[in-house]
Amino acid sequence: MENIDWKNLPFGYMKTDYNVRCYYRDGAWGELEVSSSEQISLHIAATSLHYGQEVFEGMKAYRGKDGQIRLFRCRDNAQRLINSGSYIQMVAPPVELFVEAVKKAVRLNERFVPPYESGATLYVRPLLIGSGAEVGVKPSKEYQFIVFVTPVGPYFKTGFTPVDVMITHDSDRAAPLGTGHIKAGGNYAASLLASSKAQQMGYATCLYLDAKEKKYIDECGPANFFGIKNNTYVTPDSKSILPSITNRSLMTLAEDLGMTVERRQVELPELETFDEAGACGTAAVITPIKKIFDPLSGKTYDYGIEAGPVSTKLYDLLRAIQYGDATDKHQWVEFVE
Ligand SMILES: Cc1ncc(COP(=O)(O)O)c(C=O)c1O
Repeated sequence: MENIDWKNLPFGYMKTDYNVRCYYRDGAWGELEVSSSEQISLHIAATSLHYGQEVFEGMKAYRGKDGQIRLFRCRDNAQRLINSGSYIQMVAPPVELFVEAVKKAVRLNERFVPPYESGATLYVRPLLIGSGAEVGVKPSKEYQFIVFVTPVGPYFKTGFTPVDVMITHDSDRAAPLGTGHIKAGGNYAASLLASSKAQQMGYATCLYLDAKEKKYIDECGPANFFGIKNNTYVTPDSKSILPSITNRSLMTLAEDLGMTVERRQVELPELETFDEAGACGTAAVITPIKKIFDPLSGKTYDYGIEAGPVSTKLYDLLRAIQYGDATDKHQWVEFVE
């Protein structure tokens, strides 16, 4: 295994040995290709550069106590890439091709999969770009699908320690009937200003409200939001948030624990009523929220400096499944042989 200071890894890019690529041309996907280059060659008129035809995914590979490498719900990532692509008129790889490419990229970079209990994981980044030349606004006829990997530490520096977040009132990451529900690069461009403003003010990230009425909670930076009260897991239902695979898993685990799960609109004042709040996603796992600051009202919603008992239980359960320490009764895990 690579000699890396796994415990102090940031969430960032590190060069690994190989990436996997596949090209869609003349109406068909080609064979998977392996590359050791970090560069791509792209036409100057590629639709990804001009019209934002770019979608991506984010997932992780986990090394268990048994040394085996596991992927978590990778077929759901494959399906989400298909959904993302189809919304902006792109051709995405079929599920099997996606899974094969991900496994190949992980296997080829096996020495970068962090050891069990090191606090680090191998982040897997599949991306799909329109690579054909068009000058009029229309979809590309050619696509490049690339999977690269990079070992990472926790997304929020603190890991499972609660963070402060700030509500954003003056910008939206996506329009009400726009692209918020897909993982398109443009959404992230639109989020950069709000998150850098929040960070400049000392917050880990921003909490978005719905774009239409600014009345309901949407999501939390690059993660979904949940609140806990009265043995109930509450998470926003909104057409402009990314359907998080982590959140979907937590809803199932909460039900397994005998909790009630409510996926519905969450009005801003309801923040007052939660005993615990958190952000969840592949990168964030569960990041508990300590405080939510609303700059418009000046109000702060406080959930305490320690992670709450329900968030902790859900976090432990999810991680135990991802690392192979708990029974995978929902069959979420796939091995990289
Ligand atoms: C905007 C946004 N919301 C939520 C999530 C969490 O989704 P998942 O749990 O599938 O990683 C992500 C990360 O992919 C994201 O970028």
